[in-house]
Amino acid sequence: MNVVESDKAPPTNVPPILDVRTLSKTYPGQRALVNAKIAVRRGEIHALIGQNGSGKSTLIKVLAGYVKADHGADVHFNGKPIDLWRASSEQRSLVRIVHQDLGSCSHTLGNREPRARSRL
Ligand SMILES: Nc1ncnc2c1ncn2[C@@H]1O[C@H](COP(=O)(O)OP(=O)(O)OP(=O)(O)O)[C@@H](O)[C@H]1O
Ligand SMILES: [Mg+2]
Repeated sequence: MNVVESDKAPPTNVPPILDVRTLSKTYPGQRALVNAKIAVRRGEIHALIGQNGSGKSTLIKVLAGYVKADHGADVHFNGKPIDLWRASSEQRSLVRIVHQDLGSCSHTLGNREPRARSRL
C-alpha cells in the first residue's frame, strides 16, 4: 500500500490529528498489515492506494473500531495515545466511514453499525 504525498500538502511540522505510528493486523493465516504508518493533519485528504488485498479496508476497519489490531499498535489521536478497540463512543464518533457497499447496510451508518455487518 502506498501513501502518496502532494507537494501542496500542509506543512508536516503541524501536529497530526491522527498519528498511526505502527499498526499491524494478522487474520488467521494472513498478515494484512505489517507496521502500517500514516499521519493525518487538519485539512489533508489522503488516498489509500494499493492492489487488491493490500490491506486498505483492514486499515479503515481498525481505525473505525470494527477490527482489533494486533498487540503493540501505537496510535495517537490529538496528541494522546488511543486504543482504537476500546475507544469511547465519543472518541469513536470522530471517525466516520462512508461505506463502499451501501447495500449491505440496512439502516443508519456511522459508528452505530453492528461490527458483524461491516463491509468495506
Ligand atoms: N476477515 C478476514 N479473515 C481473514 N483474512 C482476511 C479477512 N479480511 C481480509 N483478509 C485478508 O487480509 C488481506 C487484506 O485484505 P483487505 O480487504 O484489507 O485488502 P484491500 O486492500 O481492502 O483489498 P481490496 O482492494 O480487494 O478491497 C487480504 O489478504 C485478505 O484476504
Ligand atoms: Mg478493500
